[in-house]
Amino acid sequence: MLTIALPKGRIAQETLDIFKRVFNRDFKFDNRKLILESKDFRFLNVRNQDVPTYVEYGTADLGVVGLDVITEQGLDVLDLLDLEIGKCKVSIGIKEDDTLDWSRPDIKIATKMVNITKNYFASKAVGVEVIKLYGSIELAPLVGLADAIVDIVETGITMKENGLKVAEDIMESSVHLIANKNSFFEKKGEILELYSALKKVVEDAKK
Ligand code: PRP
Repeated sequence: MLTIALPKGRIAQETLDIFKRVFNRDFKFDNRKLILESKDFRFLNVRNQDVPTYVEYGTADLGVVGLDVITEQGLDVLDLLDLEIGKCKVSIGIKEDDTLDWSRPDIKIATKMVNITKNYFASKAVGVEVIKLYGSIELAPLVGLADAIVDIVETGITMKENGLKVAEDIMESSVHLIANKNSFFEKKGEILELYSALKKVVEDAKK
């Protein structure tokens, strides 16, 4: 039996669709249920940012989560496979009519992704103040809380509708299959079998 943590919402559904293609049967969480058991699998429906935690503690053997979350949290898990869904970028956004002078000493950046932001600006030797927010990041430059944001851009619609533009891309992200290190050794056969089947579906989808 493999326990797999999925991030609530669209990505959980898209992942279960991949499982459906592999095993030729339906996988669906019942209304509001957080656990789905189906033969050899137990799926946990968890908050996106909590997926690596369930995997790192070994409560889940496997998890499905964005590379942005893995990078931000820097947890000790195995990154097994890019499922090539949930593609997006982590980008710096500024007001449409702004050109930001990065040499200014007092630049404020609002973001959910504090570590990615700090590491990126440190690598450029740009000093910034990072302001942690939990959502509605696009609001911050509009009301003067920050000069810029670092956030997920998928379609770009949220930025556009709020009068922001991408100044720079920091990284590309997509959803990956991760594994707990002990589980990987203890359940290697089961995990590798699933890994190969998922990989085949991901590669077939590209054809
Ligand atoms: C993310 C992100 C942006 C939006 C970008 O928010 O923080 O606000 O999606 O998507 P777009 O480029 O397609 O417009 P999400 O919906 O995940 O909500 P959250 O802020 O609660 O995490």
